[in-house]
Amino acid sequence: MKVLVAITGASGFPLAVKTLKELGKKEIERHLIVSKNAHKVREQETELTSEQIEQLCEHYYKPDAIHTSICSGSYPINAMIIVPCSMNTLAKIAGGIEDNAITRAAGVNIKQERKVILVPRETPLHLAALKNMVKAKQQGCSIVPPMLAHHTKPKTIENSENFVIGKILELLGIEHTLYQEWNVKK
Ligand SMILES: Cc1cc2nc3c(=O)[nH]c(=O)nc-3n(C[C@H](O)[C@H](O)[C@H](O)COP(=O)(O)O)c2cc1C
Repeated sequence: MKVLVAITGASGFPLAVKTLKELGKKEIERHLIVSKNAHKVREQETELTSEQIEQLCEHYYKPDAIHTSICSGSYPINAMIIVPCSMNTLAKIAGGIEDNAITRAAGVNIKQERKVILVPRETPLHLAALKNMVKAKQQGCSIVPPMLAHHTKPKTIENSENFVIGKILELLGIEHTLYQEWNVKK
């Protein structure tokens, strides 16, 4: 299975790192694009260098690499995850704008009717963002905001992150033990 992960400039860079590590454990071929603005968030939210991020994938692409295979519908990517997804990138996807490798690949995977998972992060949400999520959903994207859940009794931020990553993996049909399934029978 080949999965394209894109990291954009919303808060939540650690979620992307964890997603890449979990996909790596499942021996999934990871393709990765990181937007220019995501690197600013990386510097703010992690101690990781861009070189260390590049090591979390099998194939790394620059955000202006619109000539590369992942930007063509003929390349057999199985799914794309944008984690975290900025309101800027969300708006472009909702509007069909393909001005960089991330938005181009998203458009391509939507037209090829493949799974495209967006993890949009902003709060509170303005009306344009809400409408853009609806538009992206209407185009077939899965919308997975990194929302808190308390029924799993999280004790650390990592527990809460695991819940979000688990939700992403479930949409890809990948088994995980990142949190305990809800298992009340009566
Ligand atoms: C530290 C930091 C945190 C940010 N957090 C968010 C956020 O949570 N959501 C969001 O939509 N934009 C956020 N932004 C703003 C985006 O980075 C900005 O809109 C940018 O244009 C997104 O570009 P991209 O979509 O090409 O990555 C943040 C910026 C910085 C520097």
